[in-house]
Amino acid sequence: MHTLNVALTGVTGYIGSHIAIALAEHGHWVVGFDNFANSSPAVLDRVATICDTSMPFAELDLADTDAIASFLVTNKVDAVIHLAGLKSVAESVAEPLRYYETNVAGSVSLLKAMEQANVHGIVFSSSATVYDPNQTSPLGEDAVIGPINPYGHTKIMVEQIINNAAAASSLKGINLRYFNPVGAHPSALIGEDPVGTPNNLMPYVMQVAVGMRDEVSIYGDDYATPDGTGVRDYIHVCDLADGHVAAVNALAKISTSDTINLGTGVGSSVREVIAAAERAADRDIPHRVVKRRPGDADMSYADPSRAEHRLGWKAQRTLADACVDHWRWQDQNPHGYTTS
Ligand SMILES: NC(=O)c1ccc[n+]([C@@H]2O[C@H](COP(=O)([O-])OP(=O)(O)OC[C@H]3O[C@@H](n4cnc5c(N)ncnc54)[C@H](O)[C@@H]3O)[C@@H](O)[C@H]2O)c1
Repeated sequence: MHTLNVALTGVTGYIGSHIAIALAEHGHWVVGFDNFANSSPAVLDRVATICDTSMPFAELDLADTDAIASFLVTNKVDAVIHLAGLKSVAESVAEPLRYYETNVAGSVSLLKAMEQANVHGIVFSSSATVYDPNQTSPLGEDAVIGPINPYGHTKIMVEQIINNAAAASSLKGINLRYFNPVGAHPSALIGEDPVGTPNNLMPYVMQVAVGMRDEVSIYGDDYATPDGTGVRDYIHVCDLADGHVAAVNALAKISTSDTINLGTGVGSSVREVIAAAERAADRDIPHRVVKRRPGDADMSYADPSRAEHRLGWKAQRTLADACVDHWRWQDQNPHGYTTS
């Protein structure tokens, strides 16, 4: 296999740290930067422990085009995986300009830096939130686009920017639309460490399991799903990371740009997630049904077949595996990286 020098933006974040390890395991050379807006420098030591080597890292902001360009040149980077950005749907509704500035203007700045540095490959962290929520799952990549919040709009705008830039230059881009990443590295050294109240179900469930929060709120149990609670596609973060290794390897084969779902194709309900977490943590997890939230779809899960055809990648791990790994991380690091 041809090994590459790969730069990760947002490398100290939840998903970036797992991708760094997967790339290193596959023989690629990994470098990265982050501005620590939503992550801890402690992640770097943890990743170094797992990989048995430390990676070149710089504290950099996406807005700093020239500094990014020289980082890419110094490290002889072949391709970039672009994860850095802001990811809270609720925050994006309250502070849309900050979201467009970081996610959209920040991505343009990165692409300009890549152009300056002659780096011609990018894999971008997009999201299933780009799809119109009123569609029947499984969702293929050709499903109707229709984000319902600024966060989702930033993702589809950046996809479009990458597609346009690839059509006009020698850039090759792969937009990966993630479904719901969960779980943690089996070492329990790295995992998701949300600041404040978690926005996503799994970290919330795990914080209830470990005793940091009282109960899980189930937002409605009258949806058109088998048990009435919302159904989503939960993908183990290590599977997601392997999908990025496959995407980086595929960059050389594509002509301009491509868009690919990363999901399992399996939908799980809120009640199924809580039950799987209860088995993993070997305890009851208190929960209560409350009223629906606006904008939540009944079901959202991927048609993952394009990833299998074009990347040769398929999720291997189950929801039960993700709960076991997420619980091990939560149990051993109840306060995330602040314990280190
Ligand atoms: N976690 C999910 O549920 C999910 C789902 C779909 C897509 N995504 C996307 O995947 C990517 C990674 O998500 P994550 O869960 O690892 O989030 P994360 O917040 O843990 O990681 C993002 C990283 O980007 C850094 N960052 C933010 N603004 C920056 C800036 N201006 N300059 C440099 N670094 C900056 C943060 O400090 C953080 O370390 C994001 O783009 C997110 O939108 C995440």
